[in-house]
Amino acid sequence: MPKIVSGFSKLTKDEKINWLAKNYFTDIDSGISTLKQYGNQNTKLQQLHDEFIENTISNFYIPYAVAPNFIINNKPYTIPMAIEESSVVAAASLVAKFWSTRGGFKTKVLSTKKVGQVHFMYKGDFKNLEKYFNKEKENLIKATDSITTNMRKRGGGLLDIELLDKTTKLDNYYQLHVTFETADSMGANFINSCLEAIAEEFKSDEIEIVMSILSNYVPECLVRAEVSCEVKYFFDENPEFYAQKFIQAIEIANVEPYRAVTHNKGIMNGIDAVVLATGNDFRAVAAGAHAYAAKSGSYKSLTNAKIENGIFSFWIEIPLSVGTVGGLTKLHPLAKLSLEILQYPSAKELMEIIAVAGLAQNFAALKALTTSGIQKGHMKMHLMNVLNQLEANLHEKEIIIKNLEGKIVTHNAVAEELHKLRTS
Ligand code: MEV
Repeated sequence: MPKIVSGFSKLTKDEKINWLAKNYFTDIDSGISTLKQYGNQNTKLQQLHDEFIENTISNFYIPYAVAPNFIINNKPYTIPMAIEESSVVAAASLVAKFWSTRGGFKTKVLSTKKVGQVHFMYKGDFKNLEKYFNKEKENLIKATDSITTNMRKRGGGLLDIELLDKTTKLDNYYQLHVTFETADSMGANFINSCLEAIAEEFKSDEIEIVMSILSNYVPECLVRAEVSCEVKYFFDENPEFYAQKFIQAIEIANVEPYRAVTHNKGIMNGIDAVVLATGNDFRAVAAGAHAYAAKSGSYKSLTNAKIENGIFSFWIEIPLSVGTVGGLTKLHPLAKLSLEILQYPSAKELMEIIAVAGLAQNFAALKALTTSGIQKGHMKMHLMNVLNQLEANLHEKEIIIKNLEGKIVTHNAVAEELHKLRTS
């Protein structure tokens, strides 16, 4: 059993690795060599990574790819994606091409308001609290002046502070509900700093501050992305039938949470990949998106589709709090490059691009699921992972990929092919 270690963060990187190896690795040399292989010893880049978080001992790489041919509001985009799942980028590229000949994607940012809350306890009369709040409100806003100066210059700032009575949900619980515009930044640090300054100004002998923190639920930081075409262009064979089936798949997700979670997970495959590639906080985005999917009280699809007057349309509405300045966006060299590939979008434009990536993934998934099934395309893309698991060499890979062309790929089928090849 490894012992509790104290002062670990003060150890050098090598000391940390040696401690880890001694306590946890069965094959010490191989463990250390894996860590070293993924680290870039003594480079500026490594130093940057080391300083992102505490106790960095290596880097955890995932593939970084691009999906070209997206037309969004008549402008072409190549979308960078960071993701490990085999079929996501291939699906994005296929869908981008498909819709590029059918008018492309149309998007619109519906709102950009963000929220933070000062949660507090108060045992006195609400009327007195209200009076105190109304008297103090201006001072509360003033208390954030030094923090909001730059943000105001960029067109953002604090929008409003409201006092909310939450005592029907929890005894003595009240809240200052604060709204913000954060221009091109995600604004987490900005919001949290404002909230702490407000709380400091607001607290009194009777008001016990519990915590001050932004909310990752941002239903008023909302974007819509849509595609549409005449039903006859939806599919080569029997387009009306397959378009209806596509719509039924969404209807099922709307009434069946088990399905809705998987449906939305597929959407997040696209969303998270772009959020990550642009150095944004994918956990915040995912938490906010799933909460939005459950806003009616039951968990539903984030996408919708309909056929009206012979036109098939398919759209997503999703809250996305992302930035193109601040955080890691300009600090992580690949995030910076992603923004260059996207032609330096504003935060609003990035919201639109990310929503498109999510819609595209859902389109690919539903089209496959309601026609050939998901495994055909999925396993085709997964084939290389299976070959690597079975430790096939380059020559064996080439032959097996060729032999399995047009056939259903399963783990067994690949293993059999490899066995045949090795014993022939
Ligand atoms: C897999 O990562 C995503 C899908 O399961 C999404 C879906 O079922 O809609 C294919």
